[in-house]
This record gives sequence, C-alpha cells and structure tokens, in this order.
Amino acid sequence: MYNSIQDTLIIGKKVIYLPTCHSTNDIAAEIVHAGLFDEGTIVITDNQVKGRGQRGTEWVADPGQNLTFSVILKPGFLPVGDQFLLSQTVALGICAYAALYVNDAKVKWPNDVHVNGKKVSGVLIENSIQGSRIASSIIGIGVNINQAAFTNSYATSIGRETGRQFVLSEEFQKLLRCLDHSYADLKSRTLHDRIRKDYLTNLFGYNHAVRFKYQDRVLEGTVSHVTLQGKLVMKLLSESGMLEVGLKEIEWLKD
Ligand code: BTN
Repeated sequence: MYNSIQDTLIIGKKVIYLPTCHSTNDIAAEIVHAGLFDEGTIVITDNQVKGRGQRGTEWVADPGQNLTFSVILKPGFLPVGDQFLLSQTVALGICAYAALYVNDAKVKWPNDVHVNGKKVSGVLIENSIQGSRIASSIIGIGVNINQAAFTNSYATSIGRETGRQFVLSEEFQKLLRCLDHSYADLKSRTLHDRIRKDYLTNLFGYNHAVRFKYQDRVLEGTVSHVTLQGKLVMKLLSESGMLEVGLKEIEWLKD
C-alpha cells in the first residue's frame, strides 16, 4: 500500500495504486487524456508487465521488489526549449534519494542514476507540447530497491549495494520528497542555473575520464558540459577536440 503525502508542495498528494498494470506511463497518459487530474498525481504498481524504457527498450522489474511509477506534472511555466531542465531536475531528485544510502550515486547522461557504477534507476519522460510550452509531462520512474539478482550484469538495486532490505512504501515517500524538492527548485526560475550546475557536478564522467563508443570508434574523454538542449559535450582525451552528441549517438563502455 502506497500512501499519498501531504507535506510536499506538489508531488504525491494523490496516489493511484494498481496491483498490476502494463505500463504506469500508459495509464498516466490515459489520465492526462481524460483531462481531470491534479498536478503531482502518481500512478504506481507493484507489477508492471510491459514497462517501457528509453529508445523503445523494455523496463523489466521483478514484481513487488522495486518502485515503478509515473508522476504527472504540468510544467506550463517551462518553455519547450528548456525541456531538458525537467530531465535534469528529475535525475537530481533520484540521485539525492540514492545518496541517502550510498556515497557513489551518479547521474549518467541523460537521466539514469548509477550506484557504484551500476544502473539503479531509469527515467522515461513523455511531454505533451502546446504551442511553445509543455502542457503536461509524464515522468516514468523505475528505481530498483530490493531486487537481488539481475540478468543484466550492469544493473543493481539499492538493497544489493547496501546489503539491506527496504520497505517499499517508506522508500516511495522518501523518493517523492526528494523529487518534490527538486521540482520546487525548477518552479522557482531563479534556480535554473543551479540545477544545471548541480547536474553537471553529479554527472558520470565529469572530472574523470570515461570510455564510450561513437560511430564504431572507442573514445575516451571527460564531460565538458551539457547544452541547453541536452546534448552532451565531451572533451576528448584519445584525440584532441570536443565532441557534441545527442541521444542514441554514443554508448558508454564499461571499464
Ligand atoms: C530507461 O532507463 O530506459 C527508462 C526506464 C523507465 C522505467 C519506468 S518504470 C515506470 C514507468 N512506466 C514505464 O513503462 N516506464 C517507466
């Protein structure tokens, strides 16, 4: 059972729990389509059978072990050109949550969260644009909490990294508070530069060299910065110069 929380500004005041569903993002989209919802409403399930990941991938999570939910937001104040800020805000919120338990929590561009070098969380954001503004945004979040074994050797859970077992409903509330805090920063427009800076300092590859694949070449570099549109700019070490990449253009390589 996942309770709503009332001491946040926006996120989590209404929680819709479904014991099982195909994808919480799809259910959230139906709610948005129907038109009647409060900003911050959550759709959460314990058994998501057709979870969707970025770039058409699947998000698979063992039933009853992890957090899989979607938050419906109405960031009407955010111009379309700034939509990557929303992604940064969410990644920072999840990273802050993971940092409650582990020292080495990092955002991996664009918005994965990694702990001790392994992926613990993924985000799928689906925006609906009206004119030059974002009318509504569905923020789909998966965070591995108690799952002990993964078929993918680069995935992990907070429980696995800490050797602890967590109560999902409690972790849900903690995570919502972190997200709400982050979203409050986004709403107060004066903090946008700070969000961008915090994102960068929490980013995997910032100030330390990482290897990645780009157009069939293996390159090494550090993150220089992220553009306002969300493109990643790498400072190359293996050959001099900068490289600006968009989604799907690079693949991180493991050490
Ligand atoms: C990724 O890393 O590829 C993004 C994964 C996003 C998974 C979450 S789980 C809750 C929500 N519902 C979905 O179908 N996907 C997102």
